[in-house]
Amino acid sequence: MQPLLFGIFQYIGPNGTVGSAWQHPDDTSAEFTKLSHWTALAKKFEEARLDFLFLADSYGFPALEGQLIPASVREGRGIPHGDPMPLVSALAAVTEKLGFILTTSTTVEPPAANARRFATLDHFTDGRIGWNIVTGSSGATAAALMGNELIRHDLRYDMADDYVDVSLTLWESSWEDDALVLDKAAGVYADPEKVHLVHHEGPYFRTDGILNLPPSPQRTPLLVQAGASGRGREFAGRNAEAVFVGGGEPATVAANVTGIRESAVAEGRPADAVKILVGALFITAPTSEEAWAKHATMLAMSSDEGAAAIYAGNTGIDLLALDPDKPIAQTETEMGQSNLERYLGKDGKPAPLVRDILENFRRTGINGSVFVGSPDEVADQIEEFVAVTGVDGFLIQPHLTPETYDDLIELLLPVLRERGLARDEYAGDTLRERFFPEGGPHLPGTHRGHAFRAGR
Ligand SMILES: Cc1cc2nc3c(=O)[nH]c(=O)nc-3n(C[C@H](O)[C@H](O)[C@H](O)COP(=O)(O)O)c2cc1C
Repeated sequence: MQPLLFGIFQYIGPNGTVGSAWQHPDDTSAEFTKLSHWTALAKKFEEARLDFLFLADSYGFPALEGQLIPASVREGRGIPHGDPMPLVSALAAVTEKLGFILTTSTTVEPPAANARRFATLDHFTDGRIGWNIVTGSSGATAAALMGNELIRHDLRYDMADDYVDVSLTLWESSWEDDALVLDKAAGVYADPEKVHLVHHEGPYFRTDGILNLPPSPQRTPLLVQAGASGRGREFAGRNAEAVFVGGGEPATVAANVTGIRESAVAEGRPADAVKILVGALFITAPTSEEAWAKHATMLAMSSDEGAAAIYAGNTGIDLLALDPDKPIAQTETEMGQSNLERYLGKDGKPAPLVRDILENFRRTGINGSVFVGSPDEVADQIEEFVAVTGVDGFLIQPHLTPETYDDLIELLLPVLRERGLARDEYAGDTLRERFFPEGGPHLPGTHRGHAFRAGR
């Protein structure tokens, strides 16, 4: 088995994706508004040679029928939530190799503003930046906050395709590779023949101008995607170099992985042009008993109400208002589709009852996979999961901060390294080379964005 990719999943908030751990006496997440909280974590992750830190984001927040959900506010779940973008320069300054993947939604800012900010961060991080392209979870509240109507689910993805086209045009077409001259004696900063005005007129977005910045190490940040609905998978096949998927039953994850790879092939790309990472929680301790005790502590801090609030924010569905002894009746939502599809019953299995859905979501959150046990037991579970699903890595979420990370680093990673499942040194300088060590820092020839390059 190849070494896997390992990233850390964090919100700029007091909780991970399961429960509300900030309330534990040893947990430091309530310090999330302090820069020192993040710089210490980033240094820890780099020292452990973890590949990247992923900062999830949404402008949306849990609400139902235009009202805040009390459990969300009381438990700090989905509210509060800070903006990852301003954090990254500070983290880049205290690290040299750790990658950063940031979420922005294609439904909030104009694409040219987003593209410029990512290009600037690609410079400041020396090419360690990736963009998690989402059409926005908690879409209804995000739209209302911006003064907009919620855009229909599939239309959001059609618009996102166009949004990515604008971004690629700006990143790849404005400056030729050798446009920057920097000849002090001749007083030439850049060659006017090699900096181009670009024009894009798509079905939803238009732009006329330039990306007002010389080419950054990667030009286009590593393109990542995280929505696993049918339309989301199509989008991934067209655009993404990496996809974050929810976990859960290995057979379901395997089908999802196959679907994403097929979408890439349908776009004329190799099946392995997309790396797939699964959201997971590893709870480990020196012995199995201690690990299960930690798991029990976590579940004691995860309430039905908090879980239902997050589920409602994501899908628009209030599990607490449904008959607990029936499956969810609706099969579609204009909000997040993956977390509804996940519970509709698939592959000949009956759809679960609402009470079981709530319990499953309370235990696993949006990520869906929890591995508990001694380091050897968790390593066995990881090996088996990877063999069945074909995923390329994991996106690890905290239970307790920093304890979950210390257990990962001190107990689990050494075992994974012994088994050849984790690297002990960083591969590649840029984030793209970390994901594809055999390629270079730029979009590969098999990605449609490659054809946008100026001077070709
Ligand atoms: C590991 C993981 C990370 C995610 N991160 C985000 C995020 O940062 N922001 C967001 O809006 N959605 C994120 N999502 C996706 C949402 O859960 C949701 O599925 C998506 O935004 C809606 O797209 P869909 O309808 O295709 O499911 C993430 C999903 C997974 C599995």
